[in-house]
Amino acid sequence: MASPLRIAVLVSGRGSNLQALIDAGRAGTLAVETVLVASDRPQAEALPRAAAAGIATFALERAGFPDRRAFDEALFAEVAAHAPDLVVLAGFMRVLGAAAVTRWHGRMINIHPSLLPAYRGLDTHARALAAGEAAHGASVHFVTTELDGGPVIAQARIAILPGDTPDRVAARLLPEEHRLLVATIGLIAAGRITLAGERVQFDGASLAAPLVLRPDGSLATGA
Ligand code: GRF
Repeated sequence: MASPLRIAVLVSGRGSNLQALIDAGRAGTLAVETVLVASDRPQAEALPRAAAAGIATFALERAGFPDRRAFDEALFAEVAAHAPDLVVLAGFMRVLGAAAVTRWHGRMINIHPSLLPAYRGLDTHARALAAGEAAHGASVHFVTTELDGGPVIAQARIAILPGDTPDRVAARLLPEEHRLLVATIGLIAAGRITLAGERVQFDGASLAAPLVLRPDGSLATGA
C-alpha cells in the first residue's frame, strides 16, 4: 500500500473541518497522516482537538513579527520541518504573502464558504442572502496569490431557503464543507487531482468546471 498523504493543517479557530479530517482518518475513509496543525491564534479551539488526536501543534502570533513576510517564514519553516505533501488551510483567517504561496504552489488548498468565484473574502453567507441568491455553497481551491482566487477543485452546493439567516445557512453548509474537504483531499491523496500551472488536472485531464459533491459524499464532474 502507498504511504498516506502527509498533510499540515493551518487553522485559526474552531477546527470543525480539522476534526472532520481527523475523524475520516480514524474511520479509515481518508488515507492521510496529519503531521502538523499550526495556528496564528494560540487560543484556537482547533489546537486541543489536534493534541487530543496526538497530532503535533504549533502556534505563533503575527504580533510577534515585524512584518507578514517574517511571520510567514517562521510559520512555513515549521510546516516544512514536518515535510507535508499538502498544506490545508481550514479556517485559517490570515492572508499569506506571495513568497509562501509561490513556494507551495500546487501543494496548498483552502476551503472557502461560497461558490467561487462568487463572494471571495468575508461574510459570504450574509452577502449571498442580501443578493437574493437561490443557491450557495463552499469551494475547495488551490491557493494562489489572488485571495480566494485560485483554481477551484470542487464545490458543495446548498439551496437558500425562505427565512434563512447567515447563522442558519452556516449551520446547514458546515456538514457539507466537511464532506467536501474530506472528499477533495481523498482525491489528492489518491493522486487523481493535481495542479498544472493554473489548471486543475483530474485523472490526467484539465478540469473544465469544479467537481460537484454528490449526496453519497463522492465528487463527480458535471452538475
Ligand atoms: C469554515 O466555514 C471555512 O469554510 C472557513 O472558515 C470556517 C472554518 O470553520 N474558511 P472551522 O474552524 O473548520 O470549524
